[in-house]
Amino acid sequence: MITVDSGVGLKEHMARMRSSGKRIAFVPTMGNLHAGHIRLMQEARRHAQAVIASIYVNPLQFGQNEDFSSYPRTPAHDKVTLLSAGVNLLFMPTDSVVYPRGVAAQTFVEVPDLSDDLCGAFRPGHFRGVATVVNRLLNLVTPDVAVFGKKDYQQWQIIRLMTADLGLPVEIIGVDTVREPDGLAISSRNNYLTPAERKLAPQLYETLCSLRDRIVKNGEITDEAGADAMIELKGCGFRPDYVSVRRQDDLGKPNLNDRRLVILAAAWLGGTRLIDNVEFELMK
Ligand code: PAJ
Repeated sequence: MITVDSGVGLKEHMARMRSSGKRIAFVPTMGNLHAGHIRLMQEARRHAQAVIASIYVNPLQFGQNEDFSSYPRTPAHDKVTLLSAGVNLLFMPTDSVVYPRGVAAQTFVEVPDLSDDLCGAFRPGHFRGVATVVNRLLNLVTPDVAVFGKKDYQQWQIIRLMTADLGLPVEIIGVDTVREPDGLAISSRNNYLTPAERKLAPQLYETLCSLRDRIVKNGEITDEAGADAMIELKGCGFRPDYVSVRRQDDLGKPNLNDRRLVILAAAWLGGTRLIDNVEFELMK
């Protein structure tokens, strides 16, 4: 596995891969890699002959009171993991490669409306930071395919909309959430949970699954669906930001005819914010 940290180094290797006619897949990450990330690398391999991963903890997507400085950075472990996952090239850019004129001067990319909804309502500027860095990385790497996890469902949809709106010549693939045996969605932030919080954490997924089952059984979404699930979560010890039933394709509020749905939620356990979602379809 080749590791590069500069745009020039990356270009050289990309040119070589392209001239040998390889289809290239890209998996951007912030490192501290776990089984969810590895699953993305495997999916990338199914779509291409060369797999490129990036590790970059993007300052632009962290709010002022968020965990940018304490975000876990484990480059040595990550390199071993990527090597055994068969990744061909690791791009670990410095800040000046991603933001040559500095973070404050960087031109933003913002997907309207959806960026301020759901998680965006609680994390102002977060999705602008995500869309901006993903656009930058896609322009640097120029892959044929880029792979993202549906664990971050809203992020995945925002990236799909952004690449379509900007006409970026890349196919965006979504991968189902990888979970712990007890159902908890795997996340780097799970390491912040205390043992007692870790025991409670799977309740988030369980609550979303039982809401899904109720909606499927009734065949319709009531206005109170999300609010009821929030009350359940509060009862278990969470502080929910939101639970919301949306259309899968654009995360709009569903109307009576919509069948392909997703329940999205964010909830705090102590100082840790967990997100999760469940996709489902209504028959009729
Ligand atoms: P990060 O949190 O490191 O996640 C990198 C990719 O792994 C994302 O596409 C995310 O959705 C996916 N992922 C994380 N946990 C997963 C799980 N349990 N199952 C499936 N996929 C999972 O998301 C980011 O980094 C950043 O916002 C980034 C896109 C790299 C832009 O900075």
